[in-house]
Amino acid sequence: MTTYESSTPRSRELFEKAKQYLPGGVTYSIRYFEPYPFYVYKAYAQKLVDVDGNEYTDYWIGHGAKLMGHKYPPVMEAINRQIEYGIHVGLPHEWEINLARQISRMVPSIDKVRFTNSGTEANMYAVRLARAYTRKTVIVKFEGNWHGGYDALHVAVSPPYDKVCAGLTSEAIGDTMVLPYNDLERVEKAVGKIEIAGIIVEPVAGAGGMIPADVEFLKGLREICDRKNALLIFDEVITGFRLSAGGAQKIYNVMPDITTLGKIVGGGEFAVGAFGGRNEFMELLDQTKHREYHERVFQGGTFTANMLMTVAGYTLLSELERRPEIYTYLDNLGEKLRKNIGEILEKLGLGYTTGIGSLVGVHFTPVRPRDVKTAQTMKDKEKSRKYFKHLLENRIIALTYENPQFFISSAHTIEDIEKLIQATEEFAKNIVKQ
Ligand SMILES: Cc1ncc(COP(=O)(O)O)c(C=O)c1O
Repeated sequence: MTTYESSTPRSRELFEKAKQYLPGGVTYSIRYFEPYPFYVYKAYAQKLVDVDGNEYTDYWIGHGAKLMGHKYPPVMEAINRQIEYGIHVGLPHEWEINLARQISRMVPSIDKVRFTNSGTEANMYAVRLARAYTRKTVIVKFEGNWHGGYDALHVAVSPPYDKVCAGLTSEAIGDTMVLPYNDLERVEKAVGKIEIAGIIVEPVAGAGGMIPADVEFLKGLREICDRKNALLIFDEVITGFRLSAGGAQKIYNVMPDITTLGKIVGGGEFAVGAFGGRNEFMELLDQTKHREYHERVFQGGTFTANMLMTVAGYTLLSELERRPEIYTYLDNLGEKLRKNIGEILEKLGLGYTTGIGSLVGVHFTPVRPRDVKTAQTMKDKEKSRKYFKHLLENRIIALTYENPQFFISSAHTIEDIEKLIQATEEFAKNIVKQ
């Protein structure tokens, strides 16, 4: 087989050009990998075709947004029908009601919802809402949890956790308290004597390596928030509509006060976010009740809840509600991948797999990570990169370069999963020989 570099000359050229106009040649630094990323020409189902005509099995799958694969036919048909009537109008329309109602039917803790253009914005507004409702300021977030680029939550994302991203002011993060993930005792101790507005947590730490929270951890956070009159925010941007039709909260049976959503909520094809909760909290956004600007939690945006996003989201979510077998299928593929790759790595002393449902993380660590800090600080970066490259040579794209993980979609087949296991086995055998 030809190598990645010999078969991607046009991508190499495009990357050279991209570097002249885009910092680092990309629009999101995690999209870069060595020697250069391939450039997508087209996408369909679980496949990507690059500008040189190479075809890849895609586990990046739109940063996990494409639960049903690329260009899922029912969603594409709904989009095509809607295009004739309007795309972005900037005034109310029926599809936004349909999607909001659908979300509140599916996500147990949501009565009302507001739409944003990204998961980042959804988290920003959720934090604002928690602060406004409780009239307190401190927000607890966890090491290695990723909530997007919003200043107050953009801390302790990548190690070392005591260093912040360039450009953040100490004021912006002064009311954020960072604590270890999956360590309830530390949370109890840390919040003991202080007032907190809320706790934000990823029920499964996604970008940090697909590491699920322990159910006792989430239950404990719920109790702490109740005791301290603080709001519990679940960031379900990844887990929402992926782990089940009701998200992670349904699987764990722990109800947050506010849920943030993204990715799948717009049918997987559009920039989107959403946050929602019980009426009691959401009414703080209601301009008919809180007429004064300073009494209300502001949320808005030019492209929010545009017609295409809402029609796509509604079409997909109503199908997910009707067809629970989709989750059985996704979970079975995820389980097989986690188990088989895990066995290969563990047998050779190379590492572990983590995850839940259709989320699979691969860790070249000496211990099975229960928190993102362990996963990120103990991993063998070189092996992670080599694994990513080996998969690329086999026309498989994982996400991301130093942090290999897989998002499974319903378009993936058992043969795809078997091919990925086989490629991992080859890699594992070769690396122990080196
Ligand atoms: C858990 C989680 N929260 C928030 C975000 C940010 O969402 P967006 O990229 O839409 O701003 C992401 C993005 O990957 C995420 O994984």
